[in-house]
Formats: sequence, C-alpha cells, structure tokens
Amino acid sequence: MAQRFPLLPFLLLCLFSSASIIAHQHEDSTTQTMEDFSGYPIHEPHSSIQNFASSSLSVDTESLQNQIDELATFSDTPAPSVTRILYTDKDVLARRYIKNLMGISGLSVREDAVGNIFGSWDGYEPNLPAVATGSHIDAIPYSGKYDGVVGVLGAIEAINSLKRSGFKPRRSLEIILFTSEEPTRFGIGCLGSRLLAGSEVLVKALQTTVDGQNKSFLDAARAAGYAKDQDDLSSVFLRKGSYSAFVELHIEQGPILEEEGISIGIVTAIAAPASIKVEFEGNGGHAGAVLMPNRNDAGLAAAELALAVEKHVLESGSIDTVGTVGILELHPGAINSIPSKSHLEIDTRDIDEQRRNNVIEKIYQSAIKVEKDRGVRLSEFKIVNQDPPALSDKSITEAMEAASKELNLPHKLMISRAYHDSLFMARVSPMGMIFIPCYKGYSHKPEEYASHQDIANGVKVLALTLAKLSLN
Ligand code: GLV
Ligand code: MN
Ligand code: MN
Repeated sequence: MAQRFPLLPFLLLCLFSSASIIAHQHEDSTTQTMEDFSGYPIHEPHSSIQNFASSSLSVDTESLQNQIDELATFSDTPAPSVTRILYTDKDVLARRYIKNLMGISGLSVREDAVGNIFGSWDGYEPNLPAVATGSHIDAIPYSGKYDGVVGVLGAIEAINSLKRSGFKPRRSLEIILFTSEEPTRFGIGCLGSRLLAGSEVLVKALQTTVDGQNKSFLDAARAAGYAKDQDDLSSVFLRKGSYSAFVELHIEQGPILEEEGISIGIVTAIAAPASIKVEFEGNGGHAGAVLMPNRNDAGLAAAELALAVEKHVLESGSIDTVGTVGILELHPGAINSIPSKSHLEIDTRDIDEQRRNNVIEKIYQSAIKVEKDRGVRLSEFKIVNQDPPALSDKSITEAMEAASKELNLPHKLMISRAYHDSLFMARVSPMGMIFIPCYKGYSHKPEEYASHQDIANGVKVLALTLAKLSLN
C-alpha cells in the first residue's frame, strides 16, 4: 500500500523555502497566508551572518552587462567613447534610467537639491544608521563606460542578489548616485559628495560658479530639474551619523590587479588630490609684425609653466607624486596671432599630503618667475581644491577581506591613486572601497574595460560586505 504523503509538513516546507526567494513585496502576504493556513503565528528568523550562505549570492551578469551597454548610449560622443557631462540632456536621461532600475528593484528613490540620488531598501531596524554604497555615472569627454558605472549598476545588482538570496538587512541599505564626481563642467570634482560631507566653502562657491559657456551652476541645476526652491545648497548636507558605513565598488583604473592576477583590491587609502587654475595675460599682436624681443607671449608662459609642473613633480623623488596639465587654452587661438591670454588647469596628487603641498608651492613660485621673466601678467592663480587623503576604516576593510575570503577570491590591500566620492564620504562615515581589475589599467579613455567575471566578483564581494555591515 502506498505510504500516505505527509501533506501539511510538505506544504509548509514549500512555503518556507519559497519564501526565501520570493521578491520583497510578496513576503508579507506569504507570511499572512502561512499564518491563516497553520492557525499560529509564523515568525521568520531574521538574517544572521551565520545562517546566510555566501554561495546563495548569484549575479545576473547578462542583465548587468546589458545595462552597462545601454547606459553608455547616453553619450554626447560616438561609441566606444562615452561623454556624459553634468546636467546635460544625456546626463538627465541616464539619471532617469538609474532611477527606473532602482524602482524595479523595489528601492524607494529620492533626490536632493543637486541631484544626488538615493535608492533605499529598508532594514528591519530602519531607525539605525543605514549602510550606503554607490558611485557616479558622469563621464569625462571621450572616456569609457565602466568608471563609476560599475559602482552604481553593480550596487543595484548587489541588492538584487541579496533579495534573491532571501537576505533581510537589519540596517537599511542605501545606494547613492553621486552628482558630478568628475570636474568637467564646473571644475569641481566630487561635487555631490563634497556637499553631502558638509562643505560650506562649496555652498558659497556654487552661488557664483559658472561653466565654460558662462552658464551658472544654479541655472544649469534648475534646467535639469534640481535646486528648484533654494539657492542655499546646505540642505544637501548629510545629518551626522546618517550612515554606519559606506562602501564603493570601482574599477581599479590602474594595472596592478590584472598584472598580478588578483580578483579584488581592498583600498586602504585614497591619495590626496589638488587642482589649480592659472591665467597669464600678455599684449598679443601680429605673428609676423611683432619681433621676438618685443613679445610677451602668454602661450609661451603657459608652456613654460607646464614644463615646470613636470619638473617639480619629478623633484619630489617619489613615484607617488604626479602632476598633469590637462587643460591648456590659448586666446584668441589663431595661427597668426600671438596668444594674449592663456589658461591652464593643473592636477597634482600624492599619497603624502605635505609632499603634494610642496609641489603646489613650487608651481606657484614658478608662475611668479614666469610672469617676471616673460613680462606677462599672472592674472589668476587659484587653488580650486587641495584635499587631504582619506583612510579606509578598519571595520570596513575587515568586512571586505572576510567577504573576499568567504567567496574564495584572491585579494590584496592597495591604495587608490584616483580620487572617488569615497574620499568625501570618509568625512561623514567609516569608508571602504572594493577595486576590480580592468584591462591594462585603462581608464578615462574609450578602451576602458572590465570582464563579466571581474564585475560579477566585485558585485558579490560588495553584496556580502553590505550584508555583514547591515547586520552589525
Ligand atoms: C577621478 O575621476 C579622478 O580623476 O581621479
Ligand atoms: Mn573618472
Ligand atoms: Mn570614478
């Protein structure tokens, strides 16, 4: 005789196991059905890191790559390059794309006055400070499609992965899309995160900041739908203690991980960046008629200062000191006209703040010397930003290391020579960063690439780190 099938325990088992994979919005009704059926209250155990199996984390690499590719189409230059500048139409469309994905993932979405976007998944103790992650989607002219993007789309997929696994966060998990990590339009890097970290200096500066077309920051923000009712952007400042942790996933933008065959970089510190704007003015004149002894060529003054930047950086004697003149503009810009004005923008960085500051001082002394020697006027020498380095928090690096180990991913501690929004989030929250390898270390150019496997590894480490931190 056939054995009677134990129907009730079986049904309960099915309901329990499916509850772990059903989407968030169905969970309450599932519990209700189970309670109605059994006649007694069902209390699902809260997630603990002990009962959470990292093997249950899966990454939908195909969808993630499709999203990366689709986001790259919001660009003002043709593929494979990506150009997405703050508050342009393409930037607004890309932001809409991300907000939509956040909504599909069941996150509640809000934006602040400069367009930092927050997507939140409520924890079961929503009054505790949340755990945040995120990055940026703006892209410098003719760059690639992974810088920043992996840390935004990857964060959404990390949340999806946690939801699919049945994980329940204790602290809320929040994804932040930061406004204008790149300094392209208004000359200020990490604009959104700098404001979140409470920069009064920036609030003041933004009242008068204009772009290269003389459009004001506030007008550009309003045209994109932000800063509607306020000129005072201090509303953006984060309340103290808003986050218990911040973790950013990013491509390395350097060659070390790929060269060493290591899947995960755990960032211990971010180098100190600075940027300077310089202008020289001379008399200009006709390229044929003004003889060489009678010239005060603002273009040559700029060229001489650019070479001085290289010299001072090399004099530091450390491989960690770098300097770049990425913008050099001459006025009026005609082959047969001696430049009457020149404009340079200088980026210099180091892991040692004092050494970086010494370079800035030497550049200033050189600018004064060039002014004197060439009979030009140094009409501007403006240090736009001179930021200290940031250290990752031990509690976060340990969580990232533990996550990498559990996932059997080789990892190493490293510093970030590029800056990131994490530099500023470190001022308001314990911070850490996860790096993944990228092809030949290429970044800020169209050849930028990270493999599906490397991205998936990064997303898993991020998901597991968020899970750990959310249960702390
Ligand atoms: C960020 O894009 C940087 O320039 O480091
Ligand atoms: Mn960048
Ligand atoms: Mn970046």
